[in-house]
Amino acid sequence: MNDSPLQVLTLPTSPYPDQRPGTNGLKKKTHVFQSKKNYLHNFIQCIFSSIDLRDRQGSTMVVGGDGRYFNSTVIQVIVQMAAANGVGRVVIGQNGIMSTPAVSCVIRKSKAIGGIILTASHNPGGPDGDFGIKFNTANGGPAPEAVTNKIFQLSRTIEEFAICPELRVDLGTIGKQSFDLENKFKPFTVEIVDPVESYANSLRNIFDFAVLKELLSGDNHIQIRLDAMHGVTGPYVKKILCEELGSPANSAINCVPLENFGGRHPDPNLIYASDLVETMKSGQYDFGAAFDGDGDRNMILGKHGFFVNPSDSVAVLAANIFCIPYFQHTGVRGFARSMPTSAALDMVARATKIQLYETPTGWRFFGSLMDAGRLSLCGEESFGTGSDYIREKDGLWAVLAWLSILAVRRQSVEDIMTDHWRTYGRNYYTRFDYEEVDLDAAVEMMLDLELMISDRAFNGQVFTVGEKKYQVEAADNFEYSDPVDGTISRNQGLRIIFKGGSRIVFRLSGTDSFGATIRLYIDSYEKDINKLFQDPQVVLAELVTIALQLSQIHERTGRRAPTVIT
Ligand code: G1P
Ligand code: ZN
Repeated sequence: MNDSPLQVLTLPTSPYPDQRPGTNGLKKKTHVFQSKKNYLHNFIQCIFSSIDLRDRQGSTMVVGGDGRYFNSTVIQVIVQMAAANGVGRVVIGQNGIMSTPAVSCVIRKSKAIGGIILTASHNPGGPDGDFGIKFNTANGGPAPEAVTNKIFQLSRTIEEFAICPELRVDLGTIGKQSFDLENKFKPFTVEIVDPVESYANSLRNIFDFAVLKELLSGDNHIQIRLDAMHGVTGPYVKKILCEELGSPANSAINCVPLENFGGRHPDPNLIYASDLVETMKSGQYDFGAAFDGDGDRNMILGKHGFFVNPSDSVAVLAANIFCIPYFQHTGVRGFARSMPTSAALDMVARATKIQLYETPTGWRFFGSLMDAGRLSLCGEESFGTGSDYIREKDGLWAVLAWLSILAVRRQSVEDIMTDHWRTYGRNYYTRFDYEEVDLDAAVEMMLDLELMISDRAFNGQVFTVGEKKYQVEAADNFEYSDPVDGTISRNQGLRIIFKGGSRIVFRLSGTDSFGATIRLYIDSYEKDINKLFQDPQVVLAELVTIALQLSQIHERTGRRAPTVIT
């Protein structure tokens, strides 16, 4: 306890026009938060101001981050401002580190009013990299649009912020710290917690750890390789997979969180996690996975680097859902995928007669369905998979889910995947990303495309490439009406759907920190058992040609190829 009460100050500031949270919080270049006067303070104040004062007084908030450069400095500021804004207790991961799924879990367990997560997810970190601030609400999930809109509105008119500038927290020591504040009866408390413990307890209730231990370290154990990419997942992998489930030390790599992720993109895809892919090709390991900076994304690989497309991954989990004890207890309430995710999950939903929801991109839309008890398992094509035990996607959960299936089926990842295609058919899938293109060019391309596809003559039009013909069955700008509260979200991506179910989707990213990113998603269904084992890029080549022609994406952006192909 400090001797004299800490001062609470209200300081003047002026608004910035560009603090609109995107798909997943506010992401900017680190230097924007670091050097623009009060840029950080403004946004944090708007988060607090978005919560009704009566709810905020004496409440609990959770704060965590992926450990990237600037993480600890920002946490100190958040705590100083939380205290000054009436929050009663802040729960923080030791050294400011806590994965996104763990924050979601701790918010729920500690009955917090919400949480702030410091991460730019899979984007690089460091002074020249990205930084991000995300607000999650009491359900543990990303704030819904109504809340982020409110934060944005507040940010455009903010005039002052409240802060206790002398307050300093010791982030390294687990335990409780109390601070007396000027004009407050009750002390303000900070609790530094082990970032893994509470989350690991939840996983113990979801999965059968004895079965997983047998799989990873029993007589007939398999070999796994997990790459934490120097993100936040390292300590979780070490504690849960290695220490508790007995996987040997060489099964976990890059497990020390680094401020700049070792200078790499902490992005679990075939390009940025190519080291893992190469190692897997040696055939030494049966199962491989990588995680992103904040631990919510995952990439699953089988022996010899067999790649499981994320849209397929969630479908496999759905088809084998009762290999996971949690679902044996809760039952299955529904499945969901984001609109650009392939329809592989729909095939399982149809076969099992389980309700399927198609939502806009971003995890927050799943939260509302989960809160209403309508959704158990969901996924996105962007390497996100999760369930209703929390309100975030969860990389490690996805790995334990896959391992639970391997433990029951005792087959290889590749055999499980190919069996799945034989049963349900295969959705060939690819995504092209054009990163950091000119914003105006991107917006203009989307507007022109929308105009073109909304012309009545577009429906029914036939596109011929080589031998193949594709006839447009429907085309629109995807709009979603939340089945729980009726909220309508418009402008969620342009869809061109062809007869037979093939699709071309265009979307502008909502997570980029600079310029614009155009995403092009292509999906084509194949049920002919003789055509299930082809290269997706070959199968989808004609649809790609049509998409490039229609959009003129290369001509408009001056690019000759996408930055990333998945
Ligand atoms: C991207 C992904 C989306 C995911 C989000 C946060 O958003 O496409 O599925 O939920 O990151 O991880 P986007 O940049 O496309 O708006
Ligand atoms: Zn992430």
